[in-house]
Amino acid sequence: MSDQKALNKQLGGKLIQAFHHIISSIKIHRDNNQLIRDSVAKFSAVMTELSGGNDLVIQIWRGRFYLQGEKLLHQRETFHVTNEMVDYLSKRGIAGMTFTRMFKDAPSEDFLAFVRLLNESVKQDDPAEWLDRQMGLSRFPWVEITRDLDVTHRDSDNRRKEKARNAYFHALSTVKEVGIKASKGITGVRKARRLAQMLVDLIQEDNSLLLGLSTIKDYDDYTYTHSVNVALLATCLGRYIGLSDIYLEHITVCGLFHDLGKVEVSKDILQKQGKLSNDEWESMRRHPLTGVRHILRLHAPHTLRSRIILGPFEHHLNVDLSGYPKTHFMKKLSLMGKILRIADVYEALTAERSYRPRSFTPDEALRRMWSEAGKSFDPFLLKSFINMIGIYPVGSFVELSTGEMGIVMEYPDESERDLPKVMLLKDNGDGRFIQAETINLAAQTPDGDKPPRRIVSGVHFSKLGIQPSKFFLQSSGSQAAAAS
Ligand SMILES: [Fe+2]
Ligand SMILES: [Fe+2]
Repeated sequence: MSDQKALNKQLGGKLIQAFHHIISSIKIHRDNNQLIRDSVAKFSAVMTELSGGNDLVIQIWRGRFYLQGEKLLHQRETFHVTNEMVDYLSKRGIAGMTFTRMFKDAPSEDFLAFVRLLNESVKQDDPAEWLDRQMGLSRFPWVEITRDLDVTHRDSDNRRKEKARNAYFHALSTVKEVGIKASKGITGVRKARRLAQMLVDLIQEDNSLLLGLSTIKDYDDYTYTHSVNVALLATCLGRYIGLSDIYLEHITVCGLFHDLGKVEVSKDILQKQGKLSNDEWESMRRHPLTGVRHILRLHAPHTLRSRIILGPFEHHLNVDLSGYPKTHFMKKLSLMGKILRIADVYEALTAERSYRPRSFTPDEALRRMWSEAGKSFDPFLLKSFINMIGIYPVGSFVELSTGEMGIVMEYPDESERDLPKVMLLKDNGDGRFIQAETINLAAQTPDGDKPPRRIVSGVHFSKLGIQPSKFFLQSSGSQAAAAS
C-alpha cells in the first residue's frame, strides 16, 4: 500500500467526518460555539497531518472521494457520512477542493464563513457559479474550488436522465430475457452482472434519480418492472447503510432475480382479480424455491451463485420467520433477505394490483410497514429505508399548502427532508396536467405576508390520472402533457 493510501485509510474518513460535522452543526450553532471550534481544530489538525504540510487536493469522481489523487477506500464507520458528503458537494456542482498550505494560518471565522457559503449555495440556480463569485469577493485565499464543468464528470440534466432511463429499460429487457431463458434451460449471468455494475455506478453517482425511476409501474409487465424497481430500492438501501460496491452488486442481481420463480406461476394466477384458491396459493408460494432452483441452474461462478441464492429464497420470510417458504433450519434472516423483504413489500404496496381497488401512496405504505417493524421487517433497516426515501419520496405527488399539486424532484439539502424541489403541475384546461415551474421549497423568497409554501400531504396518482414516472422521466424544458 502506498504511503498516501495508508494515510488516507488512517485519516481520510476522519477528515470527511470532521468536515461533515462542521457543515451540519453550523446550521444550528454560532461560530463561537465550543463544539464548532473543536470541530474546526480537529479538521485543521487532520488536514495538516494528511497533507504533510503541503496543499491538500480533494476530488470526487463517480461518487467516490480521492485525496491527493488516491481513492478513499470504504470504511464502515464513516461510509454513511462519506456518501452524504459526496451528495452534498455534487449537488453544489463541486468536483473538488484544494486547501493550500496557507489554510493552517487561516482564522477559524474565515473557514466558518466559507462553510456557510457552501451551505447557502445550494439554494442558488447555479451553486458553483454563485460560490465562485462570492469567493472572489471574500477572503479565502487558502481554498480553491474545482467546478464540475467537464461533461464526462457531470452530464447535463437531460443526458443524466437519459443514461438512467436507458439503464432502466436495459435492466427490464435483461430480466425478461433471463426469465424466458431460465424457464427453458440454462442461461448465463454475465450480462446481468455487467448491468448490475452499471446500476451500482449510477446509484453511486445519483441515487435520487434512480429512486425516482423506481416509480415506473408498467402494469402488463408488472413482474419485470417490479423486479427492476426492487433491485433499485434494495441497492439504494444498501448504499445508504454503507455496504461495499461488491455487496451492492450482489443486491442488484438478487433484486433482479428475486421473483425468477414466477416464470412457473401461470399468468392467470399472477393477474387474478380477487382471492386465490388454496391450490393457486400453493403454486404462488412455491416461487421462492423455484427461483432458487433456476438460480442454481444459471451459468455463473460458484461464489456468485452462493451469494445470490439466500436473498431470493428469503424474500417472503418475515424477521420473526413467519411467511414462506416454511423453514426449520434457519434461526434468522440474512441481511440480503431483510433488505429484499423491505424493498419487495414497499414496491408491491405502491403498485397497482388487480386484487385491490388502489395502491398505497408512499407515505401510506411506509406507515403501514412501520406498524409491522420488528415482526415483518428489521426495525433498523426499515428506519434507514424511511430516512432514505423520505415520507414524500422523489417521484411522488404532493399537495402544497396553497392547494397546488406537484411532484417531488429532489432534496437539495439532505438535512431538510420536508423541503424538496417540487415541479408544479397545472391543469391545462382540458383535464390534462402539464409541467409548470419547479420551485425549491427550501429557498423561497418572502412574498408579502403570504406564508411560504409547504407540503401538506401525499397525493395518490389516480387523483391526477397520471403516473409520476411520466413527469419524472420527462426531459427538462419539454412541455409534453401526460395523458389524463
Ligand atoms: Fe416474490
Ligand atoms: Fe417480489
